[in-house]
Amino acid sequence: MNDINRMLEERRQVARQGGGEKRIEAQHARGKLTARERIDLLLDPGSFEEIDMFVEHDCHEFGMEERKIPGDGVVTGWGTVNGRPIYVYAKDFTVFGGSLSRAHSRKINKVQDMALRNGTPIIGILDAGGARIQEGVDALGGYAEVFQRNTLASGVIPQITMIMGPCAGGDVYSPAITDFVFMIRNTSYMFVTGPDVVKTVTNEEVTAEELGGAKVHTTRSSVADGAFDNDVEALNQLRRLIDFLPLSNRTGVPERPTFDLRDRVEPSLDTLVPENANMPYDMGELVLKMVDEGDFFEIQPDFAKNIIVGFGRMEGRTVGFVANQPMVLAGVLDSDASRKAARFVRFCDCFDIPIVTLVDVPGFLPGTAQEYGGLIKHGAKLLFAYAEATVPKITVITRKAYGGAYDVMASKHLRGDVNYAWPTAEIAVMGAKGAVEIIFRNALGDDEEIERRTKEYEEKFLNPFVAAERGYIDEVIQPHNTRRRVARALALLRGKKLENPWKKHDNIPL
Ligand code: HXC
Repeated sequence: MNDINRMLEERRQVARQGGGEKRIEAQHARGKLTARERIDLLLDPGSFEEIDMFVEHDCHEFGMEERKIPGDGVVTGWGTVNGRPIYVYAKDFTVFGGSLSRAHSRKINKVQDMALRNGTPIIGILDAGGARIQEGVDALGGYAEVFQRNTLASGVIPQITMIMGPCAGGDVYSPAITDFVFMIRNTSYMFVTGPDVVKTVTNEEVTAEELGGAKVHTTRSSVADGAFDNDVEALNQLRRLIDFLPLSNRTGVPERPTFDLRDRVEPSLDTLVPENANMPYDMGELVLKMVDEGDFFEIQPDFAKNIIVGFGRMEGRTVGFVANQPMVLAGVLDSDASRKAARFVRFCDCFDIPIVTLVDVPGFLPGTAQEYGGLIKHGAKLLFAYAEATVPKITVITRKAYGGAYDVMASKHLRGDVNYAWPTAEIAVMGAKGAVEIIFRNALGDDEEIERRTKEYEEKFLNPFVAAERGYIDEVIQPHNTRRRVARALALLRGKKLENPWKKHDNIPL
């Protein structure tokens, strides 16, 4: 090796060391990997092409001119995941706590710009202390430059954030704009201001875990879409998710080889819905039995469990599933479930991912807690999301489709393309007992009469045929054939063309 090549290798070696051995050891001691180790696990072996390895900050305050580390706390570049390209930036906590300087933000901006221009997803791996305190407004401006690009890229390329350490200030707003956020249990936190500031301002005593740990954000705030036990599991699961996603809003869904027959019959589905209409059953079972090879990536599995959303494949092509879950709150739609599903439906629509909706919903959840919490507005989000979506929409009503929730869940009236019902479907304004109590409020006699009227209502309305007679349901199908019927419909709809009227953008009820 001649001298100049050796010099290059030496400079690279220094950059790869980041904040040095001691800080790398401290990172490992906390159960965290370094930025470079994370990138290596995320990408196909040997595929990483680093960009801007030698960038340094130009801060002259607080003695910073003496403290320069090549790379300046963020590793950026691109590589492949199962052969498909992605851009990545990973904050290096060993360098100034991964904090963001002007130079650091410019590195992120560069890969953001390249990802957008090239129509390629971008992954941010965050483990950082927010704005570089020594830089002041330069760091604040740097964050805004990241947010601006996050926003312009929204709906054009998938953006995913992995929260893999403490993240505060600017390091939580960028993730919040991206499509999916994942956290690591016990080693990652997200808060706008940390426990010390909280104590000063509100006098509340709270730990980092209580304030912004993975449990809080995956079960209560819904800021995060999932949590994993450690860095390795998280990055493996991220690779799995990326495989489901299109590269951009122009490429269409990826297609993967599958050995699962489209015509696979599932006799067990014929008895999935219990005879007693008030008994729960697991809608997750139907999802798993419909998708190729039972492979389903659930989004927000720990939040608003009364609705299931996530990605599966049919005939090797990605499909978004939205399914009421009768096991939790009888599958009712409340504010949380509506928001969760609305955001998912909009993601699918942005990226041309067809949506399959499985319906068993007794309506919207009544009560002051919901009304005061804005159920009307949150419910309207889901309605709006389905109504504006132009991707193929296939609906299967397995049991209840009552009231406004019937309309919302991708009904024919919201431009559902193919609307199926199982023979067990009950499509009505409400359940029989409630209906009879209202219709015959002043004329109901003894228990026997109530029972007779209830039965009469059930026989008349609690079936799929009234809707099928009007063409609101295209066909009543056998449960065991659901996969075949839906897969065939999806194949038919590949050429679907539907455009909404021109607008600058819509005004979804936020
Ligand atoms: C410069 C920072 C830093 C920062 C951490 N470091 N945060 N350097 N600017 N924001 C440095 C530390 O000096 C230390 O350097 C190293 O990173 C590791 O930090 P520790 O404190 O030793 O680690 P730990 O105990 O694990 O605590 C991590 C932490 C804490 C929770 C992130 O460092 C922290 O609270 N930092 C400040 C967070 C913050 O308030 N940021 C500003 C947010 S406001 P050495 O050399 O000792 O290794 C913001 C505005 C943007 O971001 C808003 C846009 C909307």
